[in-house]
Formats: sequence, structure tokens, C-alpha cells
Amino acid sequence: MQVAPSILSADFGHLAQDVKAICEGGCDLVHVDVMDGHFVPNLTIGPVVVEAVAGAATRPLDIHLMVENNSFFVDIFAPLRPKYISFHIEEEKHPHRLIQKIRALGIKPAIVLNPHTAPASIAYLLEDLDMVLLMSVNPGFGGQQFIPSVITKAAELKMLIDKHNPDCLIEVDGGVNAINVKQLAEAGVDIVVAGSFVYKHPDGVNAAIAALK
Ligand code: DX5
Ligand code: ZN
Repeated sequence: MQVAPSILSADFGHLAQDVKAICEGGCDLVHVDVMDGHFVPNLTIGPVVVEAVAGAATRPLDIHLMVENNSFFVDIFAPLRPKYISFHIEEEKHPHRLIQKIRALGIKPAIVLNPHTAPASIAYLLEDLDMVLLMSVNPGFGGQQFIPSVITKAAELKMLIDKHNPDCLIEVDGGVNAINVKQLAEAGVDIVVAGSFVYKHPDGVNAAIAALK
């Protein structure tokens, strides 16, 4: 299992230190939650802070856009050379066009599905995607409770991926812990995002990352 800690649960007073800690602790990706106060009822970080995160990180960035006007934010973050940029299908009128744009910038494109959105809705986009991110909470906040139906959904998505593009990865985000990660792995999930589990773990971030792996 690859692990992408979400820096949303880091201490923003010591952000560089907290980003370095997860990289040294063996994370695979640094998950960056960009929220605009419109698509989701929360406002997080923009280009100035994400640039500081990129400067501190020794692992690739995984930028999760929770915004209106995705294309505008792709242009803003592309110069930071993230590995992935993911955008919500619920907020994009021209997902196929945006996928091509992200790829042309040398970044791996990914689509995010909210808890209510069916995997079949993106069947004809799978061949152009490197990753699908399934939300296991309603986007907007860290520390929420895991929605268990995502396990069935991941298994359903895995079948579609096997048919359309076996190289496409599945990532799950929200409420992930050392217990539900096992069910997610069995369902075919490749990467888990974890914020509060990693940053609030009583034994520290290294132990948390190791437990998820
Ligand atoms: C929620 C974010 C998540 C969140 C995960 O909108 O996309 O990445 O930070 O935090 P936990 O693991 O605490 O649910
Ligand atoms: Zn996220």
C-alpha cells in the first residue's frame, strides 16, 4: 500500500518541519488539499504555501483540487511539478479536455469522485487517467468518519479499471486508519490518503505510516 499523508492535519505553524517528517518517515506522496471556499465549505492553502510545501518535500506532491475553475488552478500549480493533480468530476464540465491539459503539462491526471458519484460515470475517461481518487468522507475537512460504502465502490471501480486501463491506480481519501486500510487493500486500492491518523498518531508519524503500509 502506498501512503500519502494529508498535510491538512499538520501543524501549520511548523509546516516545513511536518512535511519533512512524513518524507523522512517513508511516505510515498505528499497529499495537498486545495480548497477554495466555494466547491467545499472550507478554505485552505494557495500557491504561496504550496510552494513552501514543495520546497520542503523530498517526496512527490499529490495535489487534490477542491475548487471551482479547475483549469485556472492547474495553471497555478503546474510550475511546482507535482506528480499528480486530481480534480472533482462533479465540478468539471469538460473533464476529457482538462485531463489532456494536465498530461500535456507533464503531470499525471487524476479524477476524484465524491461519495455519491458512481464509478461508471467515468468509465470512458479511465483510459486517459493515471489515478482515480475515491472520497471516503464528504470533502472539506480532516478528521471525519470513514464512509464504509467506499469499499464496495473501490471493488466496482477495480473491475472497470481492469477492463479499460489496468495501469490506472485507485486512491482513497478520508477517515483512513490501520483497520479499514486492510479492507481497502483487499478491494484493490493502491494508495491511501491519511491526515489525522498520521499526524495525530500517539507513536508519531513514522509509526503511523508503517502501520498503514
Ligand atoms: C478532505 C481531504 C482529506 C483529509 C483527510 O476533504 O481531502 O485529504 O485531509 O483527512 P483524514 O485522514 O483526517 O480524514
Ligand atoms: Zn484530499
